Amino acid sequence: MANPTLLILAGDGIGPEVMGQVKRVIDWFGTKRNLAFDVSEDLVGGAAYDAHGTPLHDDTMAKALAADAVLLGAVGGPKYDALDFSVKPERGLLRLRKEMDLFSNLRPAQCFDALADFSSLKKDVVAGLDIMIVRELTSGVYFGEPRGIFEEGNERVGINTQRYTEGEIDRVARSAFELARRRNKKVCSMEKANVMESGILWREVVQKVRDADYPDIELSHMYADNGAMQLVRAPKQFDVILTDNLFGDILSDCAAMLTGSLGMLPSASLGAPTDTGRPRALYEPVHGSAPDIAGQGKANPIACILSFAMALRYSFDRGDEAARLEAAIETVLADGARTADLMGEEGGTPISTTEMGDAILSALDASL
Ligand code: NAI
Ligand code: MG
Repeated sequence: MANPTLLILAGDGIGPEVMGQVKRVIDWFGTKRNLAFDVSEDLVGGAAYDAHGTPLHDDTMAKALAADAVLLGAVGGPKYDALDFSVKPERGLLRLRKEMDLFSNLRPAQCFDALADFSSLKKDVVAGLDIMIVRELTSGVYFGEPRGIFEEGNERVGINTQRYTEGEIDRVARSAFELARRRNKKVCSMEKANVMESGILWREVVQKVRDADYPDIELSHMYADNGAMQLVRAPKQFDVILTDNLFGDILSDCAAMLTGSLGMLPSASLGAPTDTGRPRALYEPVHGSAPDIAGQGKANPIACILSFAMALRYSFDRGDEAARLEAAIETVLADGARTADLMGEEGGTPISTTEMGDAILSALDASL
């Protein structure tokens, strides 16, 4: 059987630096775990603009649609800030998300014990935290019509519309329930059904999907404002949180900071299954291109490496190897390896991007 295909789009700034370490990890799984991928690389963002005058070439889009999974670094940087909106680096990423129809955005918030002191919350509130936020990514108030700034009488009015179809709610709910089956079988759905009709429909459809096809999943509903409070009060009560685009944007950023550094946070964006049975999938760190540290060998590659672990789990059904990789990272952190972004008040000497890669590969070797 042919190897699964991975398209790597390293992008700009620290993107290529952190992706360099991911490539070493991918090679390791190929040689040591007999888990080989056909890897190809292409350009996205500013790098694609420099080469082709567009942040995402049509050929690259076609390759992304054909790949079993796409791994993306980061896009953007000051060099491109003055560009016209239509060719800004971010447009490359938006086009990928839109044409791959990636409606389900997975944002884990996981606390590595060695970094529990990093949280702004008390250590025992976050130690051992492992939750997943599923955010609807392609609809809702960021896309609904009508939208715009209109004249109304003698003043202007700004309008955005929260709009969800039953089908849009149904598919993202299924994605959350499938995910919950691989975890602790608990989903909490968040909306504002008390004040929004779209929230009433959301709650109805989510409950209907659960009752019809996922009776093994424990489903609860919570108003999103209470959800925000609960997330910072007692985050460990949750397993999977399912929510819409707007609330998910805010709640996932909030949850992310429970666990510390931007350099540690992976994400996955999934679409409908293709004829291979795998979902369309894009994996990327949450952080951006970090122009302030680009080219200095300081970037933390862990967010990008954890994104590859998500690919192993969600695209390639190798949760066992994903867990091996996550355990290796846990070990390295417990041993005290820290890139500059992970240095606490106690000080010490940070290691470089490549040294962090070295440490993770050694821990992987030790896991055999
Ligand atoms: P950023 O995430 O690039 O950086 C924020 C801060 O976190 C910086 O101080 C940076 O040095 C630090 N940081 C981020 N990732 C790190 C890592 N892996 N290791 C160590 N430190 C890390 O966000 P910022 O500064 O707002 O945006 C910079 C550029 O990135 C902009 O052009 C922005 O548009 C773009 N961006 C791209 C994203 C993407 O590709 N998905 C997401 C967010 C921003
Ligand atoms: Mg956000």
